[in-house]
Amino acid sequence: MDKATILAKQRQFLWPNHLLYYTEPLPLVRGEGLYVWDVEGNRYLDFFAGILTVSVGHCHPKVNARVKAQLDRIVHTSTVYPHENHVTLAEKLAQLTPGALQTSYFTNSGTEANETAVILAKVYTGHQEIIALRHGYSGRSALAMSLTGIASWRIGGTHVPGIKHAPNPYCYRCPLKLTYPQCGVACAEAVEDVIKTSTSGKIAAFLAEPIQGVGGFITPPPEYFRIVVEIVHHYEGLFICDEVQTGFGRTGTYWFGIEHWGVEPDIMTMAKGIANGLPLANTITRPEVAAATAGAGLTISTFGGNPLSCAAALATIEVMEEMDIPAHVAKVGALLRAGLEQLWEKYPIIGDVRGMGLMQGVELVKDRETKEPAPDAVNMLFEATKARGLLIGKGGAYGNVVRISPPLTATQEHVEEALAILDAAFSEVQEAFG
Ligand SMILES: Cc1ncc(COP(=O)(O)O)c(C=O)c1O
Repeated sequence: MDKATILAKQRQFLWPNHLLYYTEPLPLVRGEGLYVWDVEGNRYLDFFAGILTVSVGHCHPKVNARVKAQLDRIVHTSTVYPHENHVTLAEKLAQLTPGALQTSYFTNSGTEANETAVILAKVYTGHQEIIALRHGYSGRSALAMSLTGIASWRIGGTHVPGIKHAPNPYCYRCPLKLTYPQCGVACAEAVEDVIKTSTSGKIAAFLAEPIQGVGGFITPPPEYFRIVVEIVHHYEGLFICDEVQTGFGRTGTYWFGIEHWGVEPDIMTMAKGIANGLPLANTITRPEVAAATAGAGLTISTFGGNPLSCAAALATIEVMEEMDIPAHVAKVGALLRAGLEQLWEKYPIIGDVRGMGLMQGVELVKDRETKEPAPDAVNMLFEATKARGLLIGKGGAYGNVVRISPPLTATQEHVEEALAILDAAFSEVQEAFG
């Protein structure tokens, strides 16, 4: 099918609220490693990885072979029958995740994983209220949109009551108008104020991402989670750590983002990068927390933890272990970060560079003094990078953050190629914006 036909059918048969990148959306047909090809045969270096999902590169031969083999044995079982892949993956994740996280419930998306986590926290604690963060993103269901702290992602209003949003650790635009480190991480203490003033005084959970993804790769100061989690436990809540974007080595050095700060979540959710693009998510917790679900009511997931997705996840993790992905990402991520900081020196339109590992955000502003967001500059950068054969992502409550997050198998050569294209594209954008 040619490009014009695909785009015409998209407009005619799919809802208009599908967010599509680029002035002329880009139909992709093929992927291999770090590269994807569009329907007209143009090749792109993929530095967004299908929203931080293609962990070990497109169509990784080992992952695909494992999926193909499983396809011919059994495709579907549902959670009412145990399956070897399901239990093996659960055991593997018990080993990879920090602390006492041991028992899993697999579903199909990050949204469902967060839903599952919130329900678990309510069942375990007997409390109802949840604290989430402004600028956080939790998914697209009624509950997940209500947890989300960005107005434009909350279609149809607030659906679920009992969720309160605390100021987030956004140092570049501090919600408390303070400066780190003199602030004493006051945003962490603010969580206690929210609990004391806006809830019944006992909470079921605090849910947060180690680095806010859709929010624009907002990276907290190192003390933040230790302070907040102590407060949350004091008010009888559980800490739900949403690792949907930050999991599986994305932030470098560790398998999960929260490990950078030595904090153990009570519940962790993961999806995206777990299965190299096949739909799979997991909610993992301590055995005694999971035990609260026994007798609490019935639940199934028809597609959750299906044999194909679990096969893909097991192979993806195997590849990541063979390559020591956390160490590899720390190394290659440092090169990417250094290159982006050089671009910051060159182009005043870049207000901030932040993130960890291969999760680097670049916030664009009209003026470094006023920090007025420059979403138009991001749109122009998108066209300029696409024209030069590079795919990137965007985010932020003001639409002015570039999200750079290639597959975790990116090499120094890929990073250099991306930085050269970004340099040329930023030069064009800077000229246009003065
Ligand atoms: C941190 C975070 N949590 C949850 C979700 C929802 O995941 P999904 O789109 O798989 O439902 C996303 C998706 O971008 C996310 O970034």
